Amino acid sequence: MKKEKILVIGASGQIGVELTLALRKVYGGSQVIASDLREENELLKGTGPYVSLDVMNKEMLHVQILRQNITQVYLLAAMLSATAEKNPHLAWHLNMQSLLNVLDIAKEEKLKKVYWPSSIAVFGPTSPKVNCPQQTIIEPTTVYGISKYTGEFWCNYYFQRYGVDVRSLRYPGLVSYKSSPGGGTTDYAIEIFHAAKEKKSYSCFLNADTRLPMMYMEDAIRATIEMMESPADKIRVRTSYNIAAMSFTPAEMATEIQTHIPDFTISYAPDYRQSIAESWPQSIDDAIAQDDWGWKPAFNLASMTKDMLMNLSSSQG
Ligand code: NAD
Ligand code: SER
Repeated sequence: MKKEKILVIGASGQIGVELTLALRKVYGGSQVIASDLREENELLKGTGPYVSLDVMNKEMLHVQILRQNITQVYLLAAMLSATAEKNPHLAWHLNMQSLLNVLDIAKEEKLKKVYWPSSIAVFGPTSPKVNCPQQTIIEPTTVYGISKYTGEFWCNYYFQRYGVDVRSLRYPGLVSYKSSPGGGTTDYAIEIFHAAKEKKSYSCFLNADTRLPMMYMEDAIRATIEMMESPADKIRVRTSYNIAAMSFTPAEMATEIQTHIPDFTISYAPDYRQSIAESWPQSIDDAIAQDDWGWKPAFNLASMTKDMLMNLSSSQG
């Protein structure tokens, strides 16, 4: 049987570092090539090969895929919601062209599988706020959301028309301690932990009662690998799957942190990210992912908070 050879694009980012490490555990260090525009992340060093790669350079991407005998691509390079609003055209160009480059090469070289993440940002103010279903009114108002929703239809198109086995998840905001977040509206839920540990206070860029869907990185990585390893006939959604774990507000997260750090205080100074957050649902219905490939989260707000604080303590020595 042909061994898998995986290329992770955007491997030095918040998800990329942890996904690369997890894929290396499953497939072996040498079988998973990490790549990014940025330098190799410290946590990846010594765990497997790294190549410097700009996904926008289609020729070089094609050469790497052939040279390394790549069978699967995980495409994580993108501009996230908050950064994208500052440069909408650049965000559209990166988020769309990177996907089209990968899908074209996957079609031409008959790659076995492609992974590309979407986001709960596809939903807009007219989508249901609570338990937002897989299929509903979807009218995103951010350039990030527009690019993700369009990308979902490109994935579906390449699957239906050319048989490219491309799979996708609509991640909620992801909370993690290993690598820094890359400019999203949900980044407060990571910053708050560092601030709580370092200075026992945090000024939040969202209002106290802004409820958003969130997930711990460990669950997100497991969801990704479980979905990618499912037989193709289990993957009935070829746009992108809703997945969920928990929903909370900044005030609720602060209260949970206070159970561990009683003198932690939070203040609120909402900025332009407030209106992005308000355009998204508060919670997500992921019944179809549960039915199709057995998705089930392991972490809730309490267990995630405990794990984050424990790991930040040990990493700070
Ligand atoms: P990130 O910004 O932390 O990482 C993206 C990485 O891509 C960076 O290391 C960056 O250097 C790299 N990159 C940018 N342009 C590149 C290029 N031209 N060529 C090669 N590499 C390039 O983002 P992330 O949080 O790890 O997100 C990864 C994916 O998951 C994105 O598609 C994002 O939209 C999606 N997503 C993330 C979240 C989240 O909460 N983190 C939620 C929903 C969806
Ligand atoms: N966490 C991401 C963001 O805030 C959601 O896709 O942009």
